[in-house]
Amino acid sequence: MLSVRDLQVRFATERGTVNAVNGVSFDLHEGKTLAIVGESGSGKSVTAKTLMNLLPRSAHVSGEVTFNGQDVRALAAAGTKHFFGVQMAMVFQDPMTSLNPVKKVGEQIAETLRYHLGRSRSEALSEAQNLLTTVGTPEPERRISQYPHELSGGLRQRVVIAMALACQPRLLIADEPTTAVDVTVQKHLLDMLDELRRERGMALILITHDLGVAHGRADDVAVMYAGRLVEVAAAETLFEDMRHPYTEALLRSIPRINDPAHQRLDPIPGNPPELIDPPDACSFAPRCDYAHADCLDGVPELSGQLGQHRFACLHPTGGEDSISSNRDTPRSGRD
Ligand SMILES: Nc1ncnc2c1ncn2[C@@H]1O[C@H](COP(=O)(O)OP(=O)(O)OP(=O)(O)O)[C@@H](O)[C@H]1O
Ligand SMILES: [Mg+2]
Repeated sequence: MLSVRDLQVRFATERGTVNAVNGVSFDLHEGKTLAIVGESGSGKSVTAKTLMNLLPRSAHVSGEVTFNGQDVRALAAAGTKHFFGVQMAMVFQDPMTSLNPVKKVGEQIAETLRYHLGRSRSEALSEAQNLLTTVGTPEPERRISQYPHELSGGLRQRVVIAMALACQPRLLIADEPTTAVDVTVQKHLLDMLDELRRERGMALILITHDLGVAHGRADDVAVMYAGRLVEVAAAETLFEDMRHPYTEALLRSIPRINDPAHQRLDPIPGNPPELIDPPDACSFAPRCDYAHADCLDGVPELSGQLGQHRFACLHPTGGEDSISSNRDTPRSGRD
């Protein structure tokens, strides 16, 4: 359904060129979930916004994106209406950025339906209420006439998910759909998205910094670091046999179900690299427990073919010596 090939995104800034996305390629099939996982600044949102044609003018994009055989960047350049937001839709990282503070939420959902699907005002409002029910909003008849600030963080998230689902997209991109909510609400929202995906046969790109969120929900996982994919695999394979030291470090940095309540987590030491003038080397090497001198000799390529387990590392972990204690269920995963 979705094919991304060698996507590159650069931003011209006063400080220099920011290499935000560097040669990202992946496929997503109808009805499947791809989780894109990585720390802050790794290029997850920029990748998503590129798919949705939402980057600012300062962005320079190259590479190929096709959706059911259509060239998405060409559709964007031609100003095609009723594609973005209809065939593919996005739930933004911060719900407040996609909500108008001075408009009732029902009106805002209805607007999408009127613009893209030509519904009348009353039809659109009643559909908006149904959508709020679909995403598990209590008292939807009351909620439609409330303003965003009158809703809790969790309810606002439900509203923006309802807006994104309004036109029955074939692909939903959910960018950290649960940042503003507590752990229990997070789990409800993620499980709800997963059920909606299954019911509607919709494909889902789930963007998160928490590898645990992908556990039990994603079919495939793409781990992103400094604008590159560093490990890509079927979720089952990834959780059983992760090979990139960064993926392993990400897993160590999240809580697991069997952890004692106050066990300290291991945040990944050091900081992600600058994206201006990146070194011609493995960008994780300075933070990596397994780095050797040759890691600085060039950027490691992703091994293997698209669709296989691929990792960009000269000295991968795992195999015989895998650290099994880290392979328990992450707390944010599906039970
Ligand atoms: N408009 C822009 N101009 C310049 N740099 C940008 C712009 N938008 C994003 N970037 C840079 O691109 C990089 C990737 O940003 P992105 O928002 O994709 O990160 P992310 O993985 O979504 O992080 P987070 O988990 O914090 O949301 C960052 O270094 C960011 O500063
Ligand atoms: Mg982001």
